[in-house]
Amino acid sequence: MHQKFEFEYDQLADGSDLSIDDQELLEAARKATQNAYAPYSNFQVGAAARLSNGQIVIGANQESASFPVGVCAERALLNSVGSQFPSLTISTMAISYQPVGKDSKEPISPCGMCRQMLAEYEERTNQSIRIILSGMKGEVYIINSVTDLLPLTFSGTALK
Ligand code: THU
Repeated sequence: MHQKFEFEYDQLADGSDLSIDDQELLEAARKATQNAYAPYSNFQVGAAARLSNGQIVIGANQESASFPVGVCAERALLNSVGSQFPSLTISTMAISYQPVGKDSKEPISPCGMCRQMLAEYEERTNQSIRIILSGMKGEVYIINSVTDLLPLTFSGTALK
């Protein structure tokens, strides 16, 4: 049998057509790039989550001189939400980036490791996470669920 995977997402010319709440979230992700500790890559990433109580939590990448120790903005954020707000869910996450001294006008998308952690967060909270991707300006992508970004996700149910 032949199987096919497709997903749909929205693409906007810029953030001005987002809802007020989503604009606020994207601005929080853009601002969170300033909290990055990225002296090795000079690639500052910011992420912001809207929680089920409406609150916004931010994360930024935190690098290490021992490179693999560094953590991406998305996982820094998930670790923070899971630690501080274990009973809340994430409805939307916005991700932006600022490479030092360079333009940031096209969306970037979470790395594979972050997709895995995001997918498990969705699963464990039984709540789809919308993802808003954009640079400091320009096009915005809106993705309905992390599982769209990680087909055939490896899940903890396989370990049972
Ligand atoms: N990075 C993130 O924080 N999120 C991503 O989705 C991609 C990459 C970070 C990791 C590292 O600190 C820097 O960006 C360059 O890869």
